[in-house]
Amino acid sequence: MIPFLDLQAQYASIKTDVQDAVNRVFETGQFVLGDEVAAFESEFARYVSADHGIAVNTGTSALHLALLAAGIGPGDEVITVPFTFVATVAAIGYTGASTVFVDIDPQSLTMDVAQLEAAITPRTKAIVPVHLYGQPADMDPLLAIARRHGIIVIEDACQAHGAEYNGRRVGSMGDLGCFSFYPGKNLGACGEGGIVVTSNPKYARTVRMLRDWGSEKKYHHVLRGYNYRMEGLQGAILRVKLRHLDAWTDGRRSRAVEYDRCLRDADVTTPREMPYARHVYHIYAVRTPERAELQRTLQSRGVQTGIHYPIPVHLQEAYRDLGYAAGDFPHTERAANEVLSLPMFPELTNNQVEFVAAAVHHDVHAL
Ligand SMILES: Cc1ncc(COP(=O)(O)O)c(C=O)c1O
Repeated sequence: MIPFLDLQAQYASIKTDVQDAVNRVFETGQFVLGDEVAAFESEFARYVSADHGIAVNTGTSALHLALLAAGIGPGDEVITVPFTFVATVAAIGYTGASTVFVDIDPQSLTMDVAQLEAAITPRTKAIVPVHLYGQPADMDPLLAIARRHGIIVIEDACQAHGAEYNGRRVGSMGDLGCFSFYPGKNLGACGEGGIVVTSNPKYARTVRMLRDWGSEKKYHHVLRGYNYRMEGLQGAILRVKLRHLDAWTDGRRSRAVEYDRCLRDADVTTPREMPYARHVYHIYAVRTPERAELQRTLQSRGVQTGIHYPIPVHLQEAYRDLGYAAGDFPHTERAANEVLSLPMFPELTNNQVEFVAAAVHHDVHAL
C-alpha cells in the first residue's frame, strides 16, 4: 500500500522535538497566541522575506483578513481563478465582494495573465493569484498590470510554502500573502493554522487587530473583528517543523524528478515546472483523459491518489450566483477532468515512486 500522504513518517522523524515543544506550551499555559506563536510569526516572516507575519487559525481566515485589511468589501470585484480550492472564493465572498474569474494557463495551471487585463473593470479592487500545487503564478506581468491599474495583489500561497518566482519567495511579492498550515500542507500544523505575511505596516496592524476581536488592547474594540487567533501548541510545533521545511522541499523536488524520469514514456502528461519557478510539489498531478481508469488501476495496486479538484469553483452549486456556466473556462474545465494527484511526501522512497510509475505504465498498456 502506498499512501497519498504519510504524516506518521514525518512525526517519527521529529518526535522528540515536537514533544518538547508541546511540553513547553503546557508548562507556560499559553494556549492561545503567546510567545511561541509570536516567535513563529517572526521566523516565518523572515523565511518568506516579509517584514510582518500575523498567525491565524486557518488559511481561509488569512485570506479573509488580508482582503479586509486591503479594504475589500461589498460592491468590489476581486479577480482569481476557478481552478483552486473553494476557500479562495469563499474568503472573497465573506467580505461581500464578488469574484471575477480568469482562466488558467494549461501549462502552469495558474492564472493566464494574458487574459487578466480583459477582466479588470472600474470595480476591480484586488487580484488573488493562486500558487496552485506549489508552483508560483506568473507574478512579474501580473504585478505590472496590477500596478498600472492601482489594484492590490493578495497571494494565495496556501499550497506553496517556500516556492520561488525568479528567486523571490511566494508571499512576499504581492501586497499581502496568505498561507495555510492544514496538516497535509508542506508545512503543516497538528490541527488547523494559517498566516498572513506583509511588508506593509498598516496592513499588518489591521490584520493583527482583526484576528483578535478588532483590539490591540484587551476589551478596547477599535474594529469589528473575529476570533481567528492561532493556538499556542500550533505555533510551537510549526517552529519545530519550519526548521525542516527546506530539507522536506528538497525531498519533494527529488521525488518529482524521479517521477518525471519514470513517467517519461508513459501516456500521461507530467507537471511542468515553469522557467521562472521553483516548484515545491505540494501536489504532483499527472494528466490523462482516461483518469477514472487510471485511478481505478492504481487503487487496485494499492496506490492512493487524489483529485485536486474535480469540479471548478465556477461550476459549484454554491457559487451558481456568480453567473458562470460550463464552457466559460475551457482550460480549467479540461484540467479538472484530467488531473490525478500521485502520492507525494518527502519520505516517499524512489522505490515507491518506481512502483507507482510502473502501475501507471501498466494501466496505459492495458487500455
Ligand atoms: C489554494 C488554497 N487556498 C486556501 C486554502 C484554505 O486553507 P485552510 O484549509 O487552512 O483554511 C487552501 C487549503 O486548504 C488552499 O489549498
